[in-house]
Amino acid sequence: MDLIKDIDIISAEEAQACDFKTTADENTGKTKKLYIESYGCQMNFSDSEIVASIMKENGFDTTSDFEQADVIFLNTCSIREKAELTVRKRLSQFQKAKKNKPELTIGVLGCMAERLKENLLTEEKIVDIVVGPDAYRDLPNLVSAAEDGEKGVNTFLSREETYADIAPVRLNSNGVTAFISIMRGCDNMCSFCVVPFTRGRERSRDPYSILAEAKDLFEKGYKEVTLLGQNVDSYKWSPEENNKARLNKKEDEVTQVVNFANLLEMVAQISPYLRVRFSTSHPKDITDEVLHTIKKYDNICNYIHLPVQSGNSRVLDLMNRTYDREWYLNRVRAIREILGEECGISSDMITGFCTETEEEHQDTLSLMDIVKYDFSYMFYYSERPGTLAAKKYEDDIPLEIKKRRLAEIISKQAELSFGRNRLDLHQEQLILVEGFAKKSNQQLKGRNTANKVVIIPADQAKKGDYVRVRISEVSQATLFGEVLEVNPVLI
Ligand code: SAH
Ligand code: SF4
Ligand code: F3S
Repeated sequence: MDLIKDIDIISAEEAQACDFKTTADENTGKTKKLYIESYGCQMNFSDSEIVASIMKENGFDTTSDFEQADVIFLNTCSIREKAELTVRKRLSQFQKAKKNKPELTIGVLGCMAERLKENLLTEEKIVDIVVGPDAYRDLPNLVSAAEDGEKGVNTFLSREETYADIAPVRLNSNGVTAFISIMRGCDNMCSFCVVPFTRGRERSRDPYSILAEAKDLFEKGYKEVTLLGQNVDSYKWSPEENNKARLNKKEDEVTQVVNFANLLEMVAQISPYLRVRFSTSHPKDITDEVLHTIKKYDNICNYIHLPVQSGNSRVLDLMNRTYDREWYLNRVRAIREILGEECGISSDMITGFCTETEEEHQDTLSLMDIVKYDFSYMFYYSERPGTLAAKKYEDDIPLEIKKRRLAEIISKQAELSFGRNRLDLHQEQLILVEGFAKKSNQQLKGRNTANKVVIIPADQAKKGDYVRVRISEVSQATLFGEVLEVNPVLI
């Protein structure tokens, strides 16, 4: 569900690799410095913004240089074995920093902390505190105990915590696009997946706190928000929950159930100049009501991340995805009917799941041909301890075969992406400029509604502008545009 990664995955090895983000330098005159390195999904990056906010209240500015830090946090991911190995390697690199500065506090946060709990303290000697995703309010206590030499663990998983009242410190922000967590946890039990164990039960955040956050971002100049959750289509907030949490004042009390389509609409109504995206949709839950809501509002982007995982019904059943190939293809048909051929669709896929045959792998390739994804995040299966698949099925597909199948779907996707991008040639599109292009500051990078990167010359617009462009050239990963109009009227 990594929305902000460009679509330039080229090899099986690279597909499994783990990028991380660090905090930026912030100097608001606090006495201590915090360095956070975040791995995994957008949800984790968004959590780091909550962590930075909690720590700021407790006397910490952020730094981009871990050697300047009094506290180092690694906000970790457990989704694949490689993600955990990367963090362990990184911890060993921090050993020297700790030797030079014994008073340095090192904390492991996030999904790996939740999965391994106190074992991490014995396995990784330099770690002082281990804190799971629902226990970040306890960080200041744990850090101050660690400063007194006391190691600590808090991996309590909550049924209620949504951090609704905490205003995130926007880390690595381009000032144009931002992420808003709308729910936490996951109640699906996909057999390959560690997330339900590391993130706990699904819970939705108070819609009015979401709206307040979106409005505040818009007032600060942001032009796009992405509503985040493991399974956004099962977002649900009811009057009873409101009473339980007593979050709202009388005047904006929730009187009826708010589902995901309602929430999307509420956020879309803030302004036609605030774009709305969301991720991730589960194929079993995405409703026609959501699709019609996307259609109704020009500022809700015409793009759906709809991970299929496999194109074969027997494998989907073993994965416990609760839909089959036909169901999935029917949902894609509904998207095409309601939102048109131009709606962007992307996917996540896993090759070499337990017992997957060559024919079943071919079914994934044939499904890709039918759907014609704009892009996909593709992985080979990595068994995770404690998951249903690890308990019930043998991880029996040899690594070389997993990798070969992965290479095949990656090359299929490259072909499909190029084909889809060619359809954009000569089209007029509206993009939102996010900043300079990666390769050159002579160029700006924006995104069209379907979440594709569009490059334009830098001298004709600036970051934060909406620009009407004509697509003049396409590659497999990128579109190039000519500027037609800067900041057109969108109402
Ligand atoms: N909630 C999202 C996915 C979150 S994890 C959804 O249901 O679609 C992001 C992706 O990582 C998954 O979609 C899946 O493709 C991949 N993934 C999860 N567990 C994995 C595992 N054990 N091995 C390989 N890939 C995995
Ligand atoms: Fe994992 Fe499935 Fe939940 Fe996604 S929906 S986070 S893949 S259990
Ligand atoms: Fe995200 Fe990784 Fe946890 S994908 S939810 S950080 S296991």
